[in-house]
Amino acid sequence: MKRYHVITFGCQMNFYDSERLMGLLAERGWLPAETMETADFIFLNACSIRAKAAQRVITRLLELKPFKKKRPELLIGVGGCLAEQEGANFLQKVPFLSLVAGPRRLLEIPELLATLDPQGPAQILVGNGAPQPTRPILAPDRSVLSSSITIMEGCDNFCAYCVVPYLRGRETSRPPQDILQEAASLIAQGCREITLLGQNVNSYAPAGASLGDREPAFVTLLKKLASFPDLWRLRFTTSHPKDFSARLIELFGSLPVLAPRLHLPLQSGSDKVLKAMGRHYDLQQYFSLVDQLRRAQPGLSLSTDIIVGFPGETEEDHQLTIEALEKIRFDAIFSFKYSDRPQTRAINLPDKLSEEEKGRRLTQIQQIQRAITLDINQALVGQTVSVLVTGPGRRPGQMSGRDGTLKIVNFPGPPELYGQMVSTRVTEAYHASLLGQLAQTPETEAKSA
Ligand code: 5AD
Ligand code: SF4
Repeated sequence: MKRYHVITFGCQMNFYDSERLMGLLAERGWLPAETMETADFIFLNACSIRAKAAQRVITRLLELKPFKKKRPELLIGVGGCLAEQEGANFLQKVPFLSLVAGPRRLLEIPELLATLDPQGPAQILVGNGAPQPTRPILAPDRSVLSSSITIMEGCDNFCAYCVVPYLRGRETSRPPQDILQEAASLIAQGCREITLLGQNVNSYAPAGASLGDREPAFVTLLKKLASFPDLWRLRFTTSHPKDFSARLIELFGSLPVLAPRLHLPLQSGSDKVLKAMGRHYDLQQYFSLVDQLRRAQPGLSLSTDIIVGFPGETEEDHQLTIEALEKIRFDAIFSFKYSDRPQTRAINLPDKLSEEEKGRRLTQIQQIQRAITLDINQALVGQTVSVLVTGPGRRPGQMSGRDGTLKIVNFPGPPELYGQMVSTRVTEAYHASLLGQLAQTPETEAKSA
């Protein structure tokens, strides 16, 4: 029996891709290896969104050199966006690789492994290959309670800083019947929460959908998923603010299964910077979208992405971003220093900021947000929140899970609560989690009683 060891970096889509790869390997009789020492095939699924992410992967790969030296029959491969970006050049950095496979070629790997010579030349798979299977492929032996499903791949937006359209290609949507079938099999195995993934899920447009349709294909898909009686929570990420339809806004008020949390990347609070980024909305339009969403679902929690130090960003622009954060009051932000990426338009823009200045702006934004997050969390003390229990808590005797708005809640409780939806009363709030007490019998028991 051959054994694989897959290590994943980067976004949720990379994790999802890795699971499909492991599922296909399992179909061909491969087993997971507990450690790298016992693996016949080590695969790093890598990210390239920022230079730091890419560098981390190279360092990790170079650490594998002694393994290959000791066991020349070992196959080592690299995949994902970084593999797509580097292609054959990867071999100059990491010469002992047997395989380089971009995100659109990942599922060709299991078949290829049957004939790949560990001492022979490396296989380079980049760009578009044969169509990838869209059918459900589930990784073996994983907890399905809270699962993700990729519904679309790639991006057509070409924001000035972003490498994704070059590495994951144009937007392609999976057929709805494959997604529904995958959801059905996950739910049959005990899945209760599904997160739909895509670079821009609200542009979901499978073959056969047309602009004349009564509602966007994504809205139809959400409604169909909502009709599975054993699905308790539905989430999706990521959405581009410019593509948010009125029908989708309405759903937040009308579909109870849609969790009250939305990730809506803002990137900057300055119209000048948004324009230079090619985001196709201004701050006023973003505020208006937030207003409409909060009207549809008053309990909606928002998170966002912010890039600090985009080329040409002045101190005034930076202050406008801070003002936007203070006005909108996101529950959480993911903030990054602008990083030059190959092929993107921004790489050629003048007025780049120093690492020091970007670092200063990032620290300032993160400190301000930390206080906002803590404030929002503390307002929950005394309130009751519903928690899907996904595992043990931080301390002995505790269980843990997330509420509808994705906040981590730890609370004293027995392991039997795993997989249940429970009500907890929040007793303490920190910046990254809440502490609660069980408020009553598990909601799921009450439901079936
Ligand atoms: N530099 C910094 N941050 C970036 N992101 C994407 N590209 C870059 C870049 N070149 C951030 C954006 C995006 C998130 C996934 O990563 O905020 O929304
Ligand atoms: Fe990148 Fe912009 Fe596409 Fe998001 S929408 S993946 S930031 S190009």
